[in-house]
Amino acid sequence: METNLYPTIFKRKSVRRYNNQTVDVALLQEIIDQSKSMHPRVDDFEYEVEIVEGHDLKGYLNFKPPMGLVLFAQQHPMADFYAGMIMQKIDLLCSANGLGTCWLGMALPKHDSHKKLKAMATLSVGIADEPLQRDTITQFRRLDITQIRDFPYWDQVLEAVRIAPSATNGQPWYFKVQEDSIAMTFRKRIDIKDIVVSHLRWIDAGIACCHLLIALQEQKIIYTKHLNHKITNENDTICIIDISRVL
Ligand SMILES: Cc1cc2nc3c(=O)[nH]c(=O)nc-3n(C[C@H](O)[C@H](O)[C@H](O)COP(=O)(O)O)c2cc1C
Repeated sequence: METNLYPTIFKRKSVRRYNNQTVDVALLQEIIDQSKSMHPRVDDFEYEVEIVEGHDLKGYLNFKPPMGLVLFAQQHPMADFYAGMIMQKIDLLCSANGLGTCWLGMALPKHDSHKKLKAMATLSVGIADEPLQRDTITQFRRLDITQIRDFPYWDQVLEAVRIAPSATNGQPWYFKVQEDSIAMTFRKRIDIKDIVVSHLRWIDAGIACCHLLIALQEQKIIYTKHLNHKITNENDTICIIDISRVL
């Protein structure tokens, strides 16, 4: 299995058209299992990722998902954020291993036998009937780097975050950058659609953090991550990366 996720960040895309080929469930399970031990890890958070048939998903579905991967997780103040981190790793692993995926922000499983865990995030998955990946970075429709950070110290890292997927492509992140730190906050709301999908902004932040931590590791940057567990509003800093050195 391909587990080098950094190059996939620069190629992945949402896949909404699938052919009729069946998805290898064993490969999906392998991806789920592999993701648990891979960087960036989310520890001390109880969760399970389940494979469901596409027709067993309900809610807003703007295309027909062949299969779904559903994250069930414990109640936690950072649950949406962690859901983003966990499922983005799986999104990248799927793309790296030939499976098309798309986040489904408003889809839930029809059947839920969990008592303690709650369905939090869903990915559609199947065999792509369109290009699986992008050829060049210019094919990403995203904000310019200058719109998502204040100073250019860590642009080589933030480039991997800039192109992360987000609900309605809202890209709600903003980075306050110093020579030895990167602080992630939410960008000031400027678009009505950002408000509509407000609860998904936390998942988006987790996705961005996943890309950020993968890029830091790839570029051999030694850092300490501080997550703000007591966020009370969207102006708070979500996460600070203190950089000690570059190997
Ligand atoms: C939390 C979340 C929810 C999303 N929900 C949907 C959805 O319900 N339907 C859909 O077609 N795309 C959905 N997307 C995909 C985004 O529209 C897509 O990631 C964004 O437009 C960027 O495009 P790309 O993924 O191809 O780079 C969602 C993405 C995220 C991160």
